[in-house]
Amino acid sequence: MLIDSFQRTIDYMRVSVTKQCNFRCQYCMPDTPDDFIDKTALPLPKMLTFIKLAIDNGIKKIRITGGEPLLRTDLCEFIGGIYAYAPHIELTLTTNAFLLEKYAQGLKDAGVNRINISLDSLKSERIKHISKRDALPQILRGIHKANELKLGIKLNMVPLKSVNEDEIVDMLEFAKTHHFGVRFIEFMENIHAKDTLKGLRANEILAHINTKYTTTLLKKECFGPAKLYTIGNGSNDKAFAFGIISPHEDDFCQSCNRIRLTSDGVICPCLYYQESVNLREAILQEDTKALQSLLEKAIKNKPEKNQWEQNMNPSLLSTRAFYYTGG
Ligand code: 5AD
Ligand code: SF4
Repeated sequence: MLIDSFQRTIDYMRVSVTKQCNFRCQYCMPDTPDDFIDKTALPLPKMLTFIKLAIDNGIKKIRITGGEPLLRTDLCEFIGGIYAYAPHIELTLTTNAFLLEKYAQGLKDAGVNRINISLDSLKSERIKHISKRDALPQILRGIHKANELKLGIKLNMVPLKSVNEDEIVDMLEFAKTHHFGVRFIEFMENIHAKDTLKGLRANEILAHINTKYTTTLLKKECFGPAKLYTIGNGSNDKAFAFGIISPHEDDFCQSCNRIRLTSDGVICPCLYYQESVNLREAILQEDTKALQSLLEKAIKNKPEKNQWEQNMNPSLLSTRAFYYTGG
């Protein structure tokens, strides 16, 4: 088992397979040139060797992220390799869904259980504005296909002031109608995002929902960063639940159970902390002894809390890109 210096069990690894993306979301990589290629991404079969070792050490849940993971053409084989090694692992993927229609069946066959889909608007013009791609019809086809195949679907929305905040209720209702999960994520400031963006805090997101629905705080997700709410007074077990992720809040790190592996082979023990451990050479050499000790080092170095307060100071704004760490 992997236990950090603050007695947290680390059993969740997010694996970014590429920094590349076919979108240019305003809060992520708006200024990255269109022809950006991730030249340092590791070969997936080499990454698999490390992932097997991480599973042997107690990792029980793996989420594949990016950039946009579906840009890796051998992704399904890679995921299938993880599944074949450890069918008990919870295997999930975060995608912008642009290529999902094409890959949903392959992902399902490879062993993916659930998919998180970044969806910030239900209006074509807005998607075009936020992601710089006229992509809504294609995204919706991808969602439909994944749903048909009974892949579990959770939507992620980042509410932004004067951009899409008026769609929070619409997104909630869209998710409710289709029996999808939905999570609203506070915008996390970083130097790569468009600098005029302002996100909504958890209480502001909730206020939008409360204009139409009463809500009840259920509990903090046991093993995740979201606070879960139900619509209504909470007495009905079957009431629709949604999540709000608020890294700006104080208790965010207490139950953190995760580490992140980047596409170039670096472990980031915390999203908002500059500390990292470089496994690149060990992964390329498939040096399992070195991999074991570097993994242990990363767990030992996991900080107690993110450096959010410091990062809110404009001169110390996080330099780490979300398309690098995998969100
Ligand atoms: N703030 C909040 N969420 C972000 N994501 C990417 N960048 C940011 C940011 N700056 C989210 C995307 C996606 C997930 C992987 O991370 O919406 O759903
Ligand atoms: Fe791509 Fe996701 Fe970043 Fe948008 S948020 S640019 S979809 S990696």
